[in-house]
Amino acid sequence: MPTVYLNGRFVPEAEAGISPLDRGFLFGDAIYEVVRFDRGRGYRLSEHLERMRDGLSAIRLDAPVDFFAPAAERLLAENGLSDKDAFVYAQVSRGAAPRYHAFPPPGTTPTVFAFARETDPPPPPDGGRAILLTDERWGRCDIKSVNLLPNVLAAQKARDSGVMDAILVRDGFALEGTKANLFMVAPGGVVRTAPNGPRILPGVTRAAAIEAARRLGFTVEERAFRVEEMFAAQEVMFASTTLWTYPLVEIEGRQIGNGKPGPVARMIREALLAEFQGVPA
Ligand code: PDD
Repeated sequence: MPTVYLNGRFVPEAEAGISPLDRGFLFGDAIYEVVRFDRGRGYRLSEHLERMRDGLSAIRLDAPVDFFAPAAERLLAENGLSDKDAFVYAQVSRGAAPRYHAFPPPGTTPTVFAFARETDPPPPPDGGRAILLTDERWGRCDIKSVNLLPNVLAAQKARDSGVMDAILVRDGFALEGTKANLFMVAPGGVVRTAPNGPRILPGVTRAAAIEAARRLGFTVEERAFRVEEMFAAQEVMFASTTLWTYPLVEIEGRQIGNGKPGPVARMIREALLAEFQGVPA
């Protein structure tokens, strides 16, 4: 049975109990992070922790993030993942208290939970298919909140349609997937992705992909693109901790580019992997 981390203790998963009055459970009053580890080394851990700090401060939850690195190290070790490609999930909620919407009394202890798991095998290399769905999320998608119901429903619609994921569209702009940022390569080779702001998550992989693309000599524009622009793209790709970059070759039944994974997604992916595995790019 996996060992998990709960409030400073490492316990078998079945023994890790939290109160049913936990505000993460009742209100989704919590934030989370997912960090990838290669043989125990976290990929851009400081950026993930920075985002976690920003999230905690945005939801006015006064809790430190310094539990993360030592908890991750021990979770990887105890679960036999120290020499593997694995990820650590951690979430911090506002703790358990009688159910009132406004914040609980000062002194309520946040609930801190984390687990480690081996990374899933990568999806097939021939690229993925996606559908378009209206983005029904709230106005602060930059906060990595556990309130993921719109993402869950969209991911399920994608599964029901037999495709990999949904691209969330707001005001005609294709913004991101249900768990990944979105990039396109315009004819001429310009790489585009929506700018950071309240409509998307400021992805750690997104930032790394932008850096890698610029290093590779591409022009990168951080500006939102419309669905029609996306359909005219040479390449469209997701970027996330779990996927690195991953090409989308068909969206809403329409072929993207030549219908095959493109070189830009591949080059960025290789650059990110080299960084992850510590090989100089
Ligand atoms: N999801 N956009 C959304 C909505 C996400 O949920 C994620 C990550 C990303 C990519 O961010 P990053 O590159 O920092 O992983 C973009 C995680 C992996 C998840 O929910 O499992």
